[in-house]
Amino acid sequence: MKNIFVSLMMVLFLGATFAQAGNFKYVGVKKCKVCHNTKKIGKQYTIWKNGPHAKALQSLASKEAMDYAKKHGIADPSKDAKCLNCHSTQATVDKKLIDPKGKMTVAEGVSCESCHGPGSAYKKMSVMKNHKKALANGLILPTQKVCETCHNKKNPFYKPFDFKKYAAKIAHPIPKKK
Ligand code: HEC
Ligand code: HEC
Ligand code: HEC
Ligand code: HEC
Repeated sequence: MKNIFVSLMMVLFLGATFAQAGNFKYVGVKKCKVCHNTKKIGKQYTIWKNGPHAKALQSLASKEAMDYAKKHGIADPSKDAKCLNCHSTQATVDKKLIDPKGKMTVAEGVSCESCHGPGSAYKKMSVMKNHKKALANGLILPTQKVCETCHNKKNPFYKPFDFKKYAAKIAHPIPKKK
């Protein structure tokens, strides 16, 4: 019995080690929606969908964006890496890291995985329910640093970034169990 346990631990340990070697793939927001849109879990999908990040690609077609683009010789901000880099997770990440079995699109804008890390390995229920395992499988609970990869002065429409205030505006907690 003990031996089985030890080998199981080895498998888990090696599994986590290999996984950490950059095997985590981006799967797209539709995969997260499957579980993260019930009232019980806190409707993270709906909160995100109604928030600023889901609209980030659309904003690149706004009048503001087009005016800026015209002045700076950018033909189409929605297709230019200079803008897409912070306005779409899919467009930003290394294409080799996008899971071909996933459903990630450019249109989803700045999605869960920009902040929480690529989800291929942590999205399994058994992993999600175990905080330590989830972290070992690529889950990130983002800090200010993660936000500042985009909320910085390279953004032509930069506004001073106050982590506390900004985090409160996009809060999507799991309701506390009674
Ligand atoms: C198969 C269902 C399922 C899928 C798919 C899923 N989750 Fe989860 N997730 C859960 C459950 C259930 C919890 C709550 C775990 C608990 O009881 O605390 C959770 C918790 C989390 C947490 C908090 C974890 C912690 O330990 O603090 C984050 C962040 C999260 N999910 C993000 C995502 C993202 C991003 C995706 C898509 C890439 C995703 N989840 C896909 C079921 C899922
Ligand atoms: C991958 C890039 C990226 C990351 C990472 C990111 N953001 Fe954003 N964020 C954006 C973009 C782009 C917009 C503008 C969306 C729009 O309106 O089109 C935005 C807008 C916002 C807004 C709305 C601001 C307003 O003027 O109303 C808030 C709030 C916000 N982000 C909070 C955060 C927080 C908190 C984090 C970190 C936990 C974060 N963001 C991480 C790209 C990012
Ligand atoms: C370094 C990351 C980054 C780059 C590059 C970037 N943006 Fe943004 N953009 C952001 C963030 C973050 C916000 C949200 C700012 C805030 O409200 O605090 C934003 C906001 C905007 C907004 C305002 C959205 C709104 O409704 O308030 C427009 C329009 C926009 N960006 C267009 C562009 C265009 C056009 C380009 C390319 C020339 C570009 N951005 C490049 C990060 C970036
Ligand atoms: C702009 C960044 C950003 C995006 C996009 C984002 N999150 Fe989060 N998420 C956060 C932050 C910040 C926290 C709080 C982390 C902490 O408590 O340390 C968080 C926390 C969570 C939690 C845990 C809440 C709790 O009470 O423990 C879940 C679940 C979650 N996010 C799921 C999602 C899902 C699903 C999506 C996409 C539909 C998503 N998030 C998109 C930044 C983001």
